Amino acid sequence: MVVTAHPLASQVGEAVLRRGGNAVDAAVAVQFALAVVYPDAGNIGGGGFLVLRQRDGTAAALDYREKAPAAAHRDMYLDPNKEVVEDLSRKGHLAAGVPGTVDGMVQAHQQYGSLPWPELVQPAIDLARRGFPLTQKEARKLNRERKDFLRYNTRQPTFFLKDHWREGDTVRLADLARTLERIRDKGRAGFYEGPTADLLAAEMKRGGGLITKADLAAYRSVWRTPLTGTVGPYKVISMPPPSSGGIALLQLLTIAQHYPLPEWGWNSVPAAHLMIEAERRVYADRARHLGDPDFYQVPVAGLLDTAYIRRRMHGYSPTRATDSDDVYPGVPAPPESPHTTHYSIVDAQGNAVSVTTTLNSNFGSKVFVGGAGFLLNNEMDDFSVKPGYPNAFGLVGEEANAIAPGKRMLSSMTPTILEKDGKLFMVVGSMGGSTIITTVYQIIQNVTRFGFTMQGAISAGRFHHQWLPDWVLCEWGALGPGTGLALWLRGHKIAPKYGGIGRAAGILVLPDGRLEGGADPRGDDTAAGF
Ligand code: DON
Repeated sequence: MVVTAHPLASQVGEAVLRRGGNAVDAAVAVQFALAVVYPDAGNIGGGGFLVLRQRDGTAAALDYREKAPAAAHRDMYLDPNKEVVEDLSRKGHLAAGVPGTVDGMVQAHQQYGSLPWPELVQPAIDLARRGFPLTQKEARKLNRERKDFLRYNTRQPTFFLKDHWREGDTVRLADLARTLERIRDKGRAGFYEGPTADLLAAEMKRGGGLITKADLAAYRSVWRTPLTGTVGPYKVISMPPPSSGGIALLQLLTIAQHYPLPEWGWNSVPAAHLMIEAERRVYADRARHLGDPDFYQVPVAGLLDTAYIRRRMHGYSPTRATDSDDVYPGVPAPPESPHTTHYSIVDAQGNAVSVTTTLNSNFGSKVFVGGAGFLLNNEMDDFSVKPGYPNAFGLVGEEANAIAPGKRMLSSMTPTILEKDGKLFMVVGSMGGSTIITTVYQIIQNVTRFGFTMQGAISAGRFHHQWLPDWVLCEWGALGPGTGLALWLRGHKIAPKYGGIGRAAGILVLPDGRLEGGADPRGDDTAAGF
């Protein structure tokens, strides 16, 4: 089964599985297909994280997150008065980190792939060359971005100059098809060297960006030890730093385990109150302690210590919201030694892959590499551009996540796999910036504590708190009648989130071994399987 954000990408993945490809083969084909049909987040100019669990239970985590270019520096988004220049880290050439996706796919395929590489890139080339129909949601999004595309590009990507897109319009992407052909024929070198690298470096020169050919040649994705933890009868396998996702998710699930949530009822007043109070504290820790482990000693063990996690709930009142001004990051034990779109796939053998990949904002920096036809990320905004200054998701950070050359920016992406009794149980993840962690948390809890189906758990309404700003973002209908009012009376500030929180893709292994796909109704997401 394959669950992705776009029906055509799900079909590409399903076809690979039907041909006998494994879950990693399907993931590679899906990643490239999404770069064509879902350019909002699917990408070759961005990065991501891949968590996998083989049928024998061995797990791995691949970090293909973007990196700061060598010429980046801590204050690069500040003016001479040390004030943040609005949008500089969010749009345009300076917002882009060195892309990691193509190297990530090559690494994943070398280690775990079974079908020949060209066969996995070809479906994306076919979509780009022959064309594909726009969904209504995609047409609307392209129309919304038109102004930014015109403003931030040095060579107008002809395809995007159309005045008004309609559902069903056919899109053909010839430059992108040629770039994908180079990747098909030359692998890593098809992107990080040769014509693609030349085009990217030239684009940076024209637009005042920092990425050089040396940055591209130096980029390497990294296999990291997956973050694992036990919560009740479940083993959680998720992404370690430079994502904050795995750590924050384990902290949230561990806290919730100490309270009778099922008895209280799904999104009841006491359950929602407890979850919000836990989120407030966990995100305060994120802001202080998390960053790229290659540059900053993240106190992983200290943050996951159960006694520490319990101590973080000091000051928790079951009847009253804590003011975020009264919540400080905790002081975990120091480390002992130095040290956005989601797709879920399970193959016929039971190998599982959980991937979250992103350009950061919708359509990233809005910059297309002239002549190469792909969009560049604006992942640099995930760094803390100045201590305490909120990023596009309102997240704040400090030293741990300051900009440095070659450093990876902190992420919230939380590709996750759950085991129960040593067997594969769930594959899940989401998009949604800072809300990814709480989205994955609620979905897991909906299934494991409240007995929802996979689809029900993903469809159900969600809410979110991230310490600062001190409010509860709430989807329409996420809290039952009266619950919102009761939480407000306890002192929670509640803000509606129109347009939804997160967009998740999940697969649940049912007791009889069949797979249940959960595709998010908030998007064009589709589950495909056989
Ligand atoms: O890595 C992160 O946490 C963000 N760049 C993810 C961005 C995202 O999910 C976009 N979707 N709203």
